[in-house]
Amino acid sequence: MMRGAKGGIGIIELLAITAGSIVVGAAAGAADLEAGRALYDDKCAQCHGLSGEGDGVAADALDPRPRDFTSGSFKIRTTPSGELPTDPDLASIIERGMPYTGMPAWDFLGDEAIANLVAYIQTFNEDFADPEMRVDPVEIPSPPAMTEESVEKGRQVFVENKCGECHGDQGRGDGESAPTLMTDAGIPIRPADMTKRWTFRGGSSRSDIYRTFTTGLDGTPMPSYADSIDEEQRWQLVDYVYSLSEDEPGYGSVVVAQPVEGPLSLDPGDGSFANAPVTRFPMLGQVTDPGRAFAPAVNAVEVRAVYNDEEVALLVSWHDIAGRREGSNRPNGRDAAPADAALSDAVAVQLPSKHGGTKPYMFYGDPANSVDLWFYEAGANEARVYLGRGEENLAPAPAGGDEIRAKGVYEDGRWQVVFVAPRGSGDAQRVPQETFVPIAFSVWSGLARESGNRRAISSWYHLYLAPPDTGEAYKAAGMMGLGALVAELLVVASVRRSQAGGQS
Ligand code: HEC
Ligand code: HEC
Repeated sequence: MMRGAKGGIGIIELLAITAGSIVVGAAAGAADLEAGRALYDDKCAQCHGLSGEGDGVAADALDPRPRDFTSGSFKIRTTPSGELPTDPDLASIIERGMPYTGMPAWDFLGDEAIANLVAYIQTFNEDFADPEMRVDPVEIPSPPAMTEESVEKGRQVFVENKCGECHGDQGRGDGESAPTLMTDAGIPIRPADMTKRWTFRGGSSRSDIYRTFTTGLDGTPMPSYADSIDEEQRWQLVDYVYSLSEDEPGYGSVVVAQPVEGPLSLDPGDGSFANAPVTRFPMLGQVTDPGRAFAPAVNAVEVRAVYNDEEVALLVSWHDIAGRREGSNRPNGRDAAPADAALSDAVAVQLPSKHGGTKPYMFYGDPANSVDLWFYEAGANEARVYLGRGEENLAPAPAGGDEIRAKGVYEDGRWQVVFVAPRGSGDAQRVPQETFVPIAFSVWSGLARESGNRRAISSWYHLYLAPPDTGEAYKAAGMMGLGALVAELLVVASVRRSQAGGQS
């Protein structure tokens, strides 16, 4: 084992190294390291492993994997590429967590406990105890003003330095080399999607982004540009990257469909969609039914909708680092796809088959309350329609469902899939007026080998047909976002628990 054994690091040395920083104050001693160990074993070991090797029981379910502390390699540092992080670097990442990864924020533990954890995780790699291995942080100056000019100059820096080869021309993570990138440990890694700044592992402030270019993310293909891009240009680059994203995901809960005149188009570029408000929904891995996806490729979908007297059209879009049309896919199934089967990308829209009753179970309905599943498969570039009475009870729609059309376009890291469906009439109305119609989404990434139950899912949200002339009033309906899915999953979990309890 590489870790410096418990007694292997002199506490005096630790004190010397960290003097002046926040960890292990002068009055503290072995007790703090012991407190750190106890806390670590309790709160961190299930992911990072008891001996810090990144091999806790939950590790295999996580992508990115938990850090192996014996490696001495850390992503988020104020120190130059390849160097150990400072104590405040470690304290800060523990406090803030790493967004959109398994690493939670631990701010509630308080500074003292976090300092103890910092001291303890450093015992896993003996370099931390060697003062020669500890280097000074680089200076992160305060950010200059962001201007239109700095953004434009930053765009040129982005092009000149070929950031797009990994991150894509529009920054959506779809660069030419994106599908081939690996971590130092040989695990595929996706370049950051710059249009979603809130997903950045090391934080999304301008100073955070500056630090990323300056020191790189060790263990990943994201390089340090400290030597190749000067300070002024690095700030311009920060401003350009910053300009590509909204500040917050602004997740919503209702798609408000706008009334339009004339026939509905399967073309995502059709002007009628541009006038419809966009609602973004968070997607999480399906981890309830067997065939789970613990780390799905897609973390959000954006949806717009329009309708006329006869039909309703949904434009569903999401980002993936590659668009796969080869092969096929399927909406359900517990087994992983055979390794040699080409998997195309896919998306599904789920609605209750009947309105006004109980909302169907979110995993493809239940025996009493069925769902209609509109499944778009990129390989075939068309829709297949299913009737769902549960994950294991999904059958082609009785009427064939051929009246539902779909087409998809993948460009610059973004899928845009349009579904056009007849609104139906009487009892067979698919999307009645004046009703908040439950709607849920699933996405499969072929590149990430997702198929069947291995998929990204949303919670139930709503689709609402804005009455002519009053559409604006319903724009403000977004409110629940990610919380809704978490709440729904908790309900599912508690129902299952009580069912299990009832059987025993
Ligand atoms: C549920 C799993 C999980 C738990 C619990 C967890 N971590 Fe992590 N941690 C991760 C993952 C995953 C990463 C890697 C994220 C990445 O590479 O983007 C990580 C990364 C880290 C890093 C590396 C940051 C860097 O710059 O590379 C530190 C330090 C860390 N965790 C400390 C802790 C401490 C301390 C605890 C306990 C208080 C803890 N973690 C609990 C999953 C977890
Ligand atoms: C060789 C491929 C590659 C190149 C070239 C590259 N990046 Fe990255 N970059 C990555 C990868 C991979 C990640 C994701 C790392 C992770 O998730 O841990 C990343 C992450 C990032 C992040 C997010 C950091 C965070 O905290 O999560 C930013 C911002 C970024 N890169 C900007 C840039 C800019 C600007 C350039 C050009 C100057 C650039 N990258 C060049 C591969 C690359």
